Amino acid sequence: MPGDWAIIAEGLVKRYLTYARRGFIRRERRIIEALRGVSFKVNWGEVFGLLGPNGAGKTTTVKILTTLLLPDDGNAWVAGYNVVDEPVRVREQIGVVLNVEKGFFWKLTGRENLRYFGMLRGLRGRDLEDRVDEVGGMLGLDKLGAMDKLYEEFSLGMKARLAIARAMLTDPPVLILDEPTLGLDPHSARGIRSLLVRLARRGKAVLITTHNMFEAELICDRVAIINRGRIAAIGTVAELKRLVTDTVPINIVFTGLAEDGLESLEKLVAERLGTPARISGEDRGYRIRMLAKPGEEDRIIAESISMLSSMGLKVHRVYVEEPSLEDVFIKVTGGET
Ligand SMILES: Nc1ncnc2c1ncn2[C@@H]1O[C@H](COP(=O)(O)OP(=O)(O)O)[C@@H](O)[C@H]1O
Ligand SMILES: [Mg+2]
Repeated sequence: MPGDWAIIAEGLVKRYLTYARRGFIRRERRIIEALRGVSFKVNWGEVFGLLGPNGAGKTTTVKILTTLLLPDDGNAWVAGYNVVDEPVRVREQIGVVLNVEKGFFWKLTGRENLRYFGMLRGLRGRDLEDRVDEVGGMLGLDKLGAMDKLYEEFSLGMKARLAIARAMLTDPPVLILDEPTLGLDPHSARGIRSLLVRLARRGKAVLITTHNMFEAELICDRVAIINRGRIAAIGTVAELKRLVTDTVPINIVFTGLAEDGLESLEKLVAERLGTPARISGEDRGYRIRMLAKPGEEDRIIAESISMLSSMGLKVHRVYVEEPSLEDVFIKVTGGET
């Protein structure tokens, strides 16, 4: 049932027709395939990330889900309503943040802007005032002094917070945000991320797009990697990382080695432990990085420590590196963007 899911995208296709200038008068018709069959589902209560590089199709997907653009093929439902057949119903269910710098009045304060948009959405009187205060507090606009500041004096961080506050005015069950932290100062970005997670924990569905792998890893319960209009992989961050765990990088930081011993130690470790090994300088000492196959991490760690110790070297730290979402991205897209 469509309503069991907060968002369903099913085989979305979108083509843009463009006319590229060729010389002074001639124009060439070009079709850009922005989406080539995009499918995914978003659960209630989760932060879902659509992760991909510029031009991947993130904004196009968001515009279709928010009824701003019709798909050429495929279908989508938001809170059970079809984006093509029931756009008004869909809009009642969603809070949208598209371009954080667009659509506000420069000569009004944060509060006046929120009041205006609250009235447009049917809020009046005490309800309106309460709700404006509430979302202003939720986004930290009050503490920043932005409620009574003119919009034209806002920092980008304040603008982004106001855009999300506006999206929250009617307390919609589904939030859809296109790169909400793009270009923000770390403090604002962090505040917004933690708010999105809190909202999801309260049962809302939050869809964000981002090209920031770090951000996706930090706050998304599940991620869909999108590239060139196609979904390359979907899963929890842990599931996606398992796609690249055919090797486990192990690092040992140590001191006591003379410079001319580097190469022979690399060779020795590789030979005796049967794993590729690379030594690099680190923190007045060295770091040896070995690649273990899954399951042999413990043996490699134990043997390499005893080997280094027996050579009179001092081991300071051992850590197993986690693969990053970037490793996953490169693997599932074949490195092409
Ligand atoms: N209005 C448009 N006209 C023509 N091409 C467009 C338009 N909007 C987006 N595109 C193209 O569609 C592709 C996907 O764009 P977009 O959805 O904006 O990607 P993203 O948000 O991931 O950067 C890109 O190749 C982009 O250049
Ligand atoms: Mg975009």
